[in-house]
Amino acid sequence: MSNIVVLGVQWGDEGKGKIVDLLTEGADVVARYQGGHNAGHTVIVKNKQFILHVIPSGILHKGKKCIIGNGVVIHPRALIDEIEGLKKRRVTVGKNLFISGRAHVIMPYHTLLDGKHEEAKGSQKIGTTGRGIGPAYVDKMSRSGFRMIDLLDSRSFKDKLKANLEDINFLLEKKYHQKKISVNTIYNQYMKYADYLGPFVTDTVVMINDLIDQGRHVLFEGAQGTLLDIDHGTYPFVTSSSATAGGVCTGLGVSPAKVDGIIGVMKAYTTRVGEGPFPTELHDSLGEELRARGGEYGATTGRARRCGWLDLVSLRHAIRINGLTGVALTKLDVLDGLDTIKVCTSYTYKDPTNSCSRKGRACKFTDMPQTVNVLSGCTPVYRELDGWQKSTKGATKMSDLPRQARVYMDYISEALNVKIDLISTGQKRDEIIFVNHPFKKAKKKK
Ligand code: IMP
Repeated sequence: MSNIVVLGVQWGDEGKGKIVDLLTEGADVVARYQGGHNAGHTVIVKNKQFILHVIPSGILHKGKKCIIGNGVVIHPRALIDEIEGLKKRRVTVGKNLFISGRAHVIMPYHTLLDGKHEEAKGSQKIGTTGRGIGPAYVDKMSRSGFRMIDLLDSRSFKDKLKANLEDINFLLEKKYHQKKISVNTIYNQYMKYADYLGPFVTDTVVMINDLIDQGRHVLFEGAQGTLLDIDHGTYPFVTSSSATAGGVCTGLGVSPAKVDGIIGVMKAYTTRVGEGPFPTELHDSLGEELRARGGEYGATTGRARRCGWLDLVSLRHAIRINGLTGVALTKLDVLDGLDTIKVCTSYTYKDPTNSCSRKGRACKFTDMPQTVNVLSGCTPVYRELDGWQKSTKGATKMSDLPRQARVYMDYISEALNVKIDLISTGQKRDEIIFVNHPFKKAKKKK
């Protein structure tokens, strides 16, 4: 048995979809543990592109069990559309998909409130995906949310909906000057969703633990990234779930003792979508070039991603929190042809209150500052490395890579004290270098 987590170590969009898809070959089960349809995992199979939002990427492989865990929030309409979209493209979705009865449901008012809260914040907005994710998790934490299992009990669903809508409608009318939402409209709509999704709903905690006990291999698929984690990210410019390795345990009901390996997916540079500080962001033509070359546009919202250099300060933070056993480095080919490549090794910060700077000198951060105010005022300190002129696109062996590309990766690996197990050199499945197969490595460790 070996059970591996694959998660993002930056601000999401690291290319997890492809890595999960590749590693699925060695897994029997693929399970999502957090987030919702704010995620967009792009996978290319036989020249066909698939973008998955809530359904685990393993669905593209025959015979794999795909679990949507209790830590995920589900927009029933979006999930049904995703299932139907896959079926139209001849992907089997049926007895291979399992939805936790404990997963929370995104309601129409969550989506509405997501937009209203953002509008009200004005220039302080988070830049959410507008999918109702934050408000759905708020209701989960305030214990007024609906779970998938609740959809299957129509009477109590309606009673609770009535009670919830009293508060929601008060807020909508008084604060946002919106029309009231009718109980019956939502009730009728959600009962139809329940009919469709009901057969997929099960106790996934029992299921996944039984499968693990039977020696099946599980791949835990993270969404978003460490720097968007509600606790460990750049709060408040984060998503509302636990995108780090700890989220696996709470989001699926699996003990940490059952996790054998944690692979951090790391883009060879950095991107961020939405608002919030990003010290190594490039505001010049090079930033635009990286965006164009890397196709850096959101898979879910189509928004242009902000681009910048690799940031070892935030990566150190991500590696520490997740306890990575290996890294999958992605989009190395996007850096082809650059004369020099910069890597941020620390930040300097000049504190306006002078409490941290001595005699007006800036202080140095090698670990992630705790507040976004400080992070916004940080200036990156860079180490410059030589770029390479030879293309790395589609390389499948280390020996195919130019020396400077290997030096770049060795530098990252040494500076972060983590091994690079996989290197992705293009979008397609076979554009990959396996240095060390994570499932084999986990088995050897045992
Ligand atoms: P929310 O998850 O829609 O509430 O958005 C909160 C923040 O997370 C925003 O900055 C979003 O752009 C960002 N975000 C959410 N999901 C993703 C993702 O899958 N990739 C990258 N950023 C994301």
